[in-house]
Amino acid sequence: MLELNRRNLFLGGAAIVGVSTLMSKPGDRSGPRDSYFLDVQTALTDANIATPTLVIDRARLNANIDILVGHLPDGMGYRIVAKSLPSLALIDHIRRRAGTDRLMTFNQPMLTSLSQAMPDANQLLGKPLPVQAARNYFESLGEVDAPAAENVQWLIDSNDRLAQYAELARALDRTLRMNIELDVGLHRGGFEPGADLQAALEAIRADANLEFAGFMGYEPHIPALPTTLGWRDKALKGAWKTYRDALDQAASVFDENTMRGLTRNAAGSPTYRYYEDTEVANEISAGSCLVKPTHFDSDLLEPHLPASFIATPVIKSLPTTRMPGLEFADGAKRAWDPNYSKTVFIYGGHWLADPVDPPGLSYNPTFGRSSNQEMLNGGPDLDIKADEFVFLRPHQSEAVFLQFGDIAVYEGGQIVDRWPVFEASA
Ligand SMILES: Cc1ncc(COP(=O)(O)O)c(C=O)c1O
Repeated sequence: MLELNRRNLFLGGAAIVGVSTLMSKPGDRSGPRDSYFLDVQTALTDANIATPTLVIDRARLNANIDILVGHLPDGMGYRIVAKSLPSLALIDHIRRRAGTDRLMTFNQPMLTSLSQAMPDANQLLGKPLPVQAARNYFESLGEVDAPAAENVQWLIDSNDRLAQYAELARALDRTLRMNIELDVGLHRGGFEPGADLQAALEAIRADANLEFAGFMGYEPHIPALPTTLGWRDKALKGAWKTYRDALDQAASVFDENTMRGLTRNAAGSPTYRYYEDTEVANEISAGSCLVKPTHFDSDLLEPHLPASFIATPVIKSLPTTRMPGLEFADGAKRAWDPNYSKTVFIYGGHWLADPVDPPGLSYNPTFGRSSNQEMLNGGPDLDIKADEFVFLRPHQSEAVFLQFGDIAVYEGGQIVDRWPVFEASA
């Protein structure tokens, strides 16, 4: 639906003249198309694709998997963050190439689907689920899928939730494996070392239906901190100290055998490269860095390549940009900012994504956003016809990947496969 932004139209028209006296004149960002995207465009056309489509470049994906696996120190496990790679076929591909059977799962429908499709996989919940969702999970499993439930680590963030899961374990008459969420500085909940953690550890030890599976401590806030005054270093050291203290506390409750077998999960895409030995964590989880949406353009992830794009056909390519009701100002706007010279209307739009090819395309804040036919503007050298493809980079993967139906897998100049995605659910 087009939400024509009337307030912006009015303010936009009024602002054009005023703003031009305050700001330096923008340079022309348009130019020739990138041959990489022209090749993907040919592949999409050859595959008769003519709707907005999420494309994954399998060679780039593979390079990203190899970079991640190559970084892991001896003994460090890799857990695939399923929500950031929301397709069974994509997860299956990564499992094979990375040689891992560990998944991090974030909602009950995904937990059920993965238990059915990959009963051998070890699933650690990435957020604590209401106990009713856990109950629904057990009800959703048929007899065939039931063994998969043995491979699930349920995340708990409080003693109240632990008591609910203990009750569920009793009611089901089965052993539930408990993983304890640690607050290592993110302050999104979970335990810190101390009396509450002690109570949780002792309650698990005392309950025949519960098993202590390990800890999860996630710290994506660290690379966002400034390096000045050593803030980032201090936060990382602080996170690891909290983790070590929690492990020491656990070692005072459980025997060596249990401690040796624990999952010590940490990290995510933004931080996995901090882990160069297994002294604190013995596995890292990451997902997004394998497809690298724009939110993951960081110094630490510099070796990873963008491997996912939205490709969408141009519906209309217009030689000039004309604002409804503000046509009198079009010439001045164009003269001031050449990047508003031309217009394309694309098939769909309003995604969490930035246009990347053809170069220099941008949204028009005055015209507004549209999920139906979105306006993009470009400079005088913008050269794209109707039915050719505009490419955008998603900001994130977990929600954006679910909006386009089957993923188109690009490799060697062709669309070689289609990978269905999970149903959108939370
Ligand atoms: C607990 C936990 N671990 C790891 C991750 C990392 O996921 P990604 O690598 O896709 O950023 C997340 C993301 O939300 C998370 O919540």
